[in-house]
Amino acid sequence: MDQYCVMGNPVEHSRSPRIHARFAELCGQPMAYGRRLVPIGAFAEGIAAFRSEAAAQGDTARGCNVTVPFKFDAAALAQHTSERATLAQAVNTLRFEADGSIHADNTDGIGLVNDIVRNAGVPLAGRSLLLIGAGGAAAGVLGPLLDAGAAHVVVANRTLDKAIALVQRHAALALRHGATLEAWALDDVPGDFDVVVNATASSLAGDAVPVRAQVLRPGALAVDMMYGPAAAGFMAWAEAHGAVARDGLGMLVEQAAEAFEFWRGVRPPSAQVLAELRASLA
Ligand code: ATR
Repeated sequence: MDQYCVMGNPVEHSRSPRIHARFAELCGQPMAYGRRLVPIGAFAEGIAAFRSEAAAQGDTARGCNVTVPFKFDAAALAQHTSERATLAQAVNTLRFEADGSIHADNTDGIGLVNDIVRNAGVPLAGRSLLLIGAGGAAAGVLGPLLDAGAAHVVVANRTLDKAIALVQRHAALALRHGATLEAWALDDVPGDFDVVVNATASSLAGDAVPVRAQVLRPGALAVDMMYGPAAAGFMAWAEAHGAVARDGLGMLVEQAAEAFEFWRGVRPPSAQVLAELRASLA
């Protein structure tokens, strides 16, 4: 049987095994998907162990998802890296090819885009978008947000230099799409936006939402990339200021759907699995 897994540290909280098991069941794909705790600093060894243990069981390791803190190590290990993963400087999906080489991708951004456009029904083409944060989470989604046609994109971060660096790295892509792309400090963000995405860890720390409420256009979509209690503060703030709030559960399922298709060549029914996951968490 083909084996997949999610590798991280910590990894026990990951919902990926459950999501992929359901995708496999609904698509009739014979595969197993586990989770592997990998010691910090030993990512390459973790991959080698996964492949040899699968082989010892008479199975074949075909790929894995990669979570914190290995998204950078995973990029270094691959022979082929997609353009979006290169821009993100992070990898969340690896595919092991028959010739032994490794293909790397980052499906976080397209997962967010698909959740916004398909699940929330909010088009991104021609719209204005504020991305709050300039860390790994923000870097993973900026390219696909531009690819989706957002016409005016602002990246705002507590540390302005990091927002500037992220914007500079994406300047050519923005130009290719005819989009404006700017970096601002949190307090100085000018104007209001159709879509506001929170990619900071501020809610986790219990801190206040780090931007003025005026950034929310009436009826704007406000998405926190986290879900559960970690997203609650941002979502309550957005709703209190007339926005439609959304957590990151849809992004989680959609990034998994992209990875599943990258591996299996089959598109899983992600909206159904998202509805099931939401119902089970309610
Ligand atoms: P991740 O991979 O989750 O993005 P990260 O790379 O450490 O983690 O980035 C965390 C992001 O949250 C950064 O944009 C960080 O801002 P700085 O670059 O200024 O550190 C942002 N962040 C974390 N805590 C915050 C807070 N209390 N207020 C505002 N921004 C915060």
